[in-house]
Amino acid sequence: MRRVCPRRLCIYIMTSEEPTSLLPSHIAIIMDGNGRWAQAQGKKRVQGHKVGMERARDIVAHCGKLGVQTLTLFAFSSENWSRPEEEVGFLMNLFVTGLTRESKTLHKNNVQLRVIGDVSRFDKKLQAAISKAEDLTRNNKGIVLQIAANYGGKWDIIQAVNKLISKIPNKSLAEPVTEQMLESELVGSDLPHVDLMIRTGGEKRISNFLLWQCAYSELYFSEKLWPEFNETALDAALSEYSNRQRRFGQTSEQVMAEQTK
Ligand code: IPE
Ligand code: IPE
Ligand code: MG
Repeated sequence: MRRVCPRRLCIYIMTSEEPTSLLPSHIAIIMDGNGRWAQAQGKKRVQGHKVGMERARDIVAHCGKLGVQTLTLFAFSSENWSRPEEEVGFLMNLFVTGLTRESKTLHKNNVQLRVIGDVSRFDKKLQAAISKAEDLTRNNKGIVLQIAANYGGKWDIIQAVNKLISKIPNKSLAEPVTEQMLESELVGSDLPHVDLMIRTGGEKRISNFLLWQCAYSELYFSEKLWPEFNETALDAALSEYSNRQRRFGQTSEQVMAEQTK
């Protein structure tokens, strides 16, 4: 039996009277370590991106089966443009072929695909592939898959502020901006906040990913390089997550009392 706790937007999987495990509503993953993985195999860095894409496909399918509502994958940051031209070019082509090849399967599996980030910097061919895949899957009711491409958490906050400003008719009479107002303009504002943020590749930083949306996320850092991060590795992260106590500023006792209500 499933019980949804609206305040926290988390789902308790009930096998008995008490919740036995917690499934995050929203998982965000910084898929890091492709280049190092390839280099360790004596291959070019870009080969790591190719295998990394296969892992992403497996993880999407696994999350869909588990009943995760939203999965956000960091594919290309606003800072990744500063990589060697050849690597950036390879990644752009990989996005086009990946979107074209995978969108039918995603659609068949009821996945709703959204690309988040400043897509206007991509070339027309990639922008067209993005729109086509988004249009095809728009009405799907299964897992929402957000691919963060040319995404930066700072960009997201700034674009939200600018949207708010454009909505103010007489700027001298502007009301103070509230958290709710700003939040409603961020990308994915209709989706739950990130419950679990995973970073592979051993680094312990957020690197300008969902800065606002991860305010109370549980952070999980894996030493595995992204091409090695399979379903079992995700299950290990979910298992650790289910044992964390999320307090949102409350005391441990308050949280326990609420759970037994
Ligand atoms: C993450 O892997 C993928 C992208 C940033 C596109 P990296 O390419 O950063 O791999 P490492 O960190 O150099 O090993
Ligand atoms: C973060 O990885 C971005 C993506 C996974 C797309 P990076 O490899 O770019 O992050 P830094 O530069 O090491 O922080
Ligand atoms: Mg990296």
